[in-house]
Amino acid sequence: MVRKVAVLTSGGDAPGMNAALRAVVRAAIYRDWNVVGIRRGYAGLLEEDYLPLFRRSVGGIIHRGGTMLRTARSPEFKEPIRQKQALDFLERINVDGLIVIGGDGSLQGAASLSAQGLPTVTIPATIDNDMAGTEDTIGFDTAVNTIVHAVNAIRDTAFSHERIAVIEVMGRSRGHLALTAAAACGAEAVLVPELPVSMDALVERLQTCRYNGKHDGIVIVAEGAAKGADVSQAISERTAFEPSVTVLGYIQRGGAPSAHDSILASRLGAAAVTALEGNDTAHLIASRAQNIVAVPYAELSQTKRELDMELYQLVHELSM
Ligand code: ADP
Ligand code: F6P
Repeated sequence: MVRKVAVLTSGGDAPGMNAALRAVVRAAIYRDWNVVGIRRGYAGLLEEDYLPLFRRSVGGIIHRGGTMLRTARSPEFKEPIRQKQALDFLERINVDGLIVIGGDGSLQGAASLSAQGLPTVTIPATIDNDMAGTEDTIGFDTAVNTIVHAVNAIRDTAFSHERIAVIEVMGRSRGHLALTAAAACGAEAVLVPELPVSMDALVERLQTCRYNGKHDGIVIVAEGAAKGADVSQAISERTAFEPSVTVLGYIQRGGAPSAHDSILASRLGAAAVTALEGNDTAHLIASRAQNIVAVPYAELSQTKRELDMELYQLVHELSM
């Protein structure tokens, strides 16, 4: 039977989504399946905005950030009536499987469609790396490297001027990105949403670092923990330090994927097709201990991935 699969990218974009798209399309066509791409995530599904994808449609994109299918947030897709509308559309164009590339919210959308009978699998892609069931997500490694690159440049000038550099990074509800970047940069302190720290405790820590002979310092702040500007103000109110503040913003979400993310995306994309082929549907295609495994949606808890407390402790131990 000739199969026809649809693929979409949804939620916040992540470097490596294009590499995953390329892998999905090529692996599906390798099996003589037909592929359609849905533009703008679930919003495009409701607007019936799609295009056929061929081998050459995904040429020259493996190294490009963002997503050629574009992405969107579609709050209305949470409504069962909208999901039914999407299912009717996919049935009308003879699609018998859907591959969703996105984060936690996107997975919820895919799980809803699967519960109503459509085979779906989800490829984890978010710079936040906050999804339950997988140790890695497409885009995380690239974003960490982008932050490290920026922080290393900021540290040069913080060293020269003996300043405390406060750097606000993404992570509205989870601090994996901030923590991993802090560990890679050797930051003096990291603030994450999961573990509130008082400004007094932060300042005490920076003063201890100064007492230990440090003349500059890096404080990484996840946006969900505090605003970089507020942290900077709290430091200058309590000390004679001259804090600087940098908000890295969308620079963290764009750019070419790292080699790690391109390879991860290629493996996850091909494995997603294999999962659909084997009727291993209603699964997250996950990375665990360097292996690609399919995890049933039903096994995923509603909670997000826990912060690595050993890494958190390590950042603090090594930075004094
Ligand atoms: P991400 O996938 O990066 O976590 P969002 O949380 O914004 O991004 O979710 C992306 C989209 O997934 C939402 O705009 C919505 O269309 C869909 N979605 C999110 N949560 C649900 C849900 N509980 N049920 C159905 N669809 C959902
Ligand atoms: O892609 C993940 C993420 O960057 C989060 O860290 C952040 O909370 C959110 O997306 C911001 O996205 P937007 O500005 O597009 O709403």
